[in-house]
Amino acid sequence: MAKQRNRKPKGKIGNRPDESVRVLISHANIRRRVREIAQDVRRDFPEEPIHLIGILKGSVFFLADLARELGGEVSFDFLGVSSYGKGTDSTGEVKLTKDLEVAIEGRTVLVVEDILDTGLTLKYLVKLFEERKPKHLRIAVLLDKVERRIANVNADYTGFTIPNEFVVGYGLDYDERYRNLPDVCVLQLGPRTKSKPE
Ligand code: IMP
Repeated sequence: MAKQRNRKPKGKIGNRPDESVRVLISHANIRRRVREIAQDVRRDFPEEPIHLIGILKGSVFFLADLARELGGEVSFDFLGVSSYGKGTDSTGEVKLTKDLEVAIEGRTVLVVEDILDTGLTLKYLVKLFEERKPKHLRIAVLLDKVERRIANVNADYTGFTIPNEFVVGYGLDYDERYRNLPDVCVLQLGPRTKSKPE
């Protein structure tokens, strides 16, 4: 039987009457940028085995795509954190919900994070990982909301700098929904208007 080549998701994803999304970064642009990031990482570490650490759950698609673009020896592990608070605002407190399964001492580690917002989560994580003595510790983030930064932390590899808007899709959620959108989209809350979105 011929295989279906249509990759469009079946049906509308997770929209509720008072929520709508508009595409900010298309899946094609994300894939292109992930390929470039992989090339940058391999330029910096051409021969090294690279150990990716995905921060659950928002980084899963970014990590999956990056791992396949990297080539060479790659392994990965996941760390679970929750920044207290539900919805579109984090409180800045970080709680470890799942630790790594494999030690990182002496390894070339690339932390893979979905979004750098206030930077409080990443600052906490960098301290945690540095104490475990990796050979190299680098950070890759898909998205960076530079203007929201509170903590003094920056990524070594950044996909896109974005404005201060709440985004969902490509792993990012709003109350656990919208992670399965292929694009990064701005989430708009409130009653839908008849006029066209900007
Ligand atoms: P931080 O403020 O840099 O500590 O970011 C903490 C976490 O908040 C990120 O890893 C995301 O999981 C989440 N977050 C921040 N901004 C957004 C957003 O626009 N959409 C979805 N999640 C976000």
